[in-house]
Amino acid sequence: MKNEFKTEPLSEILGIKVKGLDLRNALDNKIKYKLQKLLAEYCVLCLPNQDLSAEDQIRFANIFGRADSERRPKSTGDLKKSAKRGVMFVSNIRENGVPIGSLPDGEMQFHSDGAHRQFPYRATTLYGIKIPSKGGNTMFSNLQAAYDALSPNIKDQIKNLKTQTVYDYTAQNRETIGADPILPRAQHELIKVHPVTGRKSIYVSRLMTEKIVGMDLDQSENLLAQLFDHAEKPEFIYSHKWSPGDLIIWDNRSTNHARTDFPAEEQRLLRRYTVSDPDSPLGN
Ligand code: OGA
Ligand code: MN
Repeated sequence: MKNEFKTEPLSEILGIKVKGLDLRNALDNKIKYKLQKLLAEYCVLCLPNQDLSAEDQIRFANIFGRADSERRPKSTGDLKKSAKRGVMFVSNIRENGVPIGSLPDGEMQFHSDGAHRQFPYRATTLYGIKIPSKGGNTMFSNLQAAYDALSPNIKDQIKNLKTQTVYDYTAQNRETIGADPILPRAQHELIKVHPVTGRKSIYVSRLMTEKIVGMDLDQSENLLAQLFDHAEKPEFIYSHKWSPGDLIIWDNRSTNHARTDFPAEEQRLLRRYTVSDPDSPLGN
């Protein structure tokens, strides 16, 4: 296939479909640059009908920063050790009752990958291998549009706030996150300025933002609930129904994502490589 492509929007709020590239082949620099620009502008790219080895996916991820391509210990392990960045299978498939991958079952609330780290992942690539007949959509929320739509009052109120984030490997919703003090945590500016576009986003999520630093807990929970509800309004969301062969990359600085429920008796398998800033550490 030629090194040319066509695009069409995935939705009105974010995302673009890129057709005509075969990612088994190396891409030239002009195409790479165009893809980088598209990701910064549209926040999510989907390249359908791909037939990708792990190496092909790593080569694609490397276009956008540093592909985290090390082998990664299963994230249910020792909480004292911050998991290395690296390849991960997202799957509910089990061998002898043990999941072969991570994030196995059902619904997941909105979050941004790596928000529990001091240097979160810039982007995430996810390649669909086995997809259930229904459900298991990945939903994306545009946090820049959500910021823009806030009232001037709230923009002012959140202007200089910092959040504390946490990642609880065993929890899939806010009710149960953060019980263990040993879980990996970080602090971030609530308003994130995108380093490429300069656009602002509300960098908060139901699954990973534990609290606002220095604020009374009730007050923090109230303000956060308001921001979560706002960012999860349907007008900011695109819900992706997967087909096998879809390769998606999303920008974790401008979007949150979540997963819809799917039948436990059907298999779901996707391969994930994250993209980090080139100078960020391999661990935290
Ligand atoms: C992830 C993730 C959602 C999904 O891989 O980081 O959140 O749809 N996946 O499986
Ligand atoms: Mn995720």
